[in-house]
Amino acid sequence: MSMAQAEFDVIVIGAGAAGMMCAAQAGQRGRRVLLIDHAAKIGERIRISGGGRCNFTNRDVRPENFLSRNPHFVRSALARFSQHDFIKLVARYGIAYHEKTLGQLFCDDSAKQIIDMLRAECDLGQVRWAQPRAVQRIAEGRDQAESGFSVHTDQGHFTCQSLVIATGGLAIPQLGATPFGYRIAEQFGLPVVPPQPALVPLALPPDTLTALQGLAGTAIDVVSQCPGQKARFRESLLITHRGLSGPAILQISSYWQNQNYESERPGHRKQPIRLDLLPDLDVPAWLQEHRHGKATLATLLASYWPKRFAQEWTAARGWTKPLAEHGNKDIAAMQQALTEWTLMPAGTLGYAKAEVTLGGVDTAALSSKTMESKAVSGLYFVGEIVDVTGWLGGYNFQWAWSSGWVAGQAV
Ligand code: FDA
Repeated sequence: MSMAQAEFDVIVIGAGAAGMMCAAQAGQRGRRVLLIDHAAKIGERIRISGGGRCNFTNRDVRPENFLSRNPHFVRSALARFSQHDFIKLVARYGIAYHEKTLGQLFCDDSAKQIIDMLRAECDLGQVRWAQPRAVQRIAEGRDQAESGFSVHTDQGHFTCQSLVIATGGLAIPQLGATPFGYRIAEQFGLPVVPPQPALVPLALPPDTLTALQGLAGTAIDVVSQCPGQKARFRESLLITHRGLSGPAILQISSYWQNQNYESERPGHRKQPIRLDLLPDLDVPAWLQEHRHGKATLATLLASYWPKRFAQEWTAARGWTKPLAEHGNKDIAAMQQALTEWTLMPAGTLGYAKAEVTLGGVDTAALSSKTMESKAVSGLYFVGEIVDVTGWLGGYNFQWAWSSGWVAGQAV
C-alpha cells in the first residue's frame, strides 16, 4: 500500500475491536486517521468469538461485571457508549441477532458481519489502513513539532498528534497476540498491573485428577465462587482430563487469578474455589428427608445430575451404601461436599486456552473519560490492554466498544 500522506492527526495501533471503533469515530469527526496492524487479517478475535457468531455485547452491562484495580474506572465509558448504543449500531447495519442466555447477544449468521460493519464505519471516517505492517519503534515528538509521536514501521515512518494503543491482551498467541502495548506503556513510564490469563480452564493437581478420572467429559450446573468474595456464577461445570472447565469455571478463574496475584503478598495464602453442586435444592432438608431410606446417594442424585456423574462422584468418596447405613458424620460430610465442594487448582491452562488477559495498563494512569494517559499528553490505551477484564458473556467486547468510542471522541 502506498501512503502518500505520512502525517496524521491520529494513529491507532491494533485493528481489533477497540482499535477499529476508535479509528472509525475519530475519522467520522474529521480527524485524519491511520490504522496499523501487524496481522494480514483484521479482527481475527472477533471472527472466532462466540463460536463464530460473536457474543458482541450483553443486554445487562454493569460496572460489577468487570474486574479492575479500580472497579469504578469503567463507569464513564460504559455510560457514554453503552450496550444500547452498540445494539443500535448493529441494528442500523441490518445485522440479525438473538439472545442466547443470561442477556448474551449473538449474530444470527456470522461474526464476520461485525467485522464488515466496523470496516464500513472506518470507511465512513476515511480511515487509512497499514497492514500487515510491523511497528518497530515509537518516539515522542514529530519532525517539526515537539508534541505528538513518530511511529517507525518496517515500511516507513508516520507522525501523529494522538497515538492510540489498541493491541489487545496476550490470549491465544497463535492469533498474533503480542506484549507490544505493555512495552509501550513501560517506555512512557505508565504502570502495568501484571498480566495473567483469565476466563481460562483450571488445572488440577495429579492426585485430584486421578480421583476425578471417571468424571471426565461430564457436566452439571453449579454455583462457583472464591471463598470470601462476592462474585458467584450459576453456570455449567465441565470436568475434563486436565481439570475444570465450562462457563462456571471460566468465570471464577478470573477471580481466582486475581486473588492469587494478591496472595503473592506476604501474609496471604493461595485460596481454593468452592462449588455448590445442587444450587436449587435445600440440601440439609433433602438429606434429612431421605436419610433413613434404602436409596443410595447416587440414586438420589441421579434425579438432578447425569447418572455417570452421580455414580462416579459418590464412588470417589466411598458413599455407595443406602443412606440409612451412613452415620451422622457421613451425612454431615455429604452436605458439606454437595454445597461447598472445595478444590484447590494447581494453576490455569495458560494463555493458549484463555479468552482474555487480566491486568494491563493501570487505570490509575489513565483518564476514565478519554483513556488518555494522565502523564503523557496525546497517548491513549483502549480495549483489553487496559486493566479492565469483563465476565464471560459479551462484556469484553462491550469494554472494547466503549473505551474505543470515548477515545475516538477525544483524539
Ligand atoms: P483485539 O485482540 O481484538 O485486537 C488487537 C489487535 O492488535 C489485533 O488485530 C492484533 O493483530 C493487533 N496487534 C497485536 N500486537 C500488535 C503489534 N505489535 N503491532 C501491530 N498490531 C498488533 N469477548 C466477548 O465479549 N464475547 C465473545 O464472544 C468473545 N469470544 C472470544 C473467543 C476467544 C477464543 C477469544 C480469544 C476471545 C474472546 N472474547 C470475547 C474476548 C475479546 O475477543 C477481546 O476482549 C477483544 O477482542 C479485545 O479487543 P481489543 O481490540 O482490545 O483487542
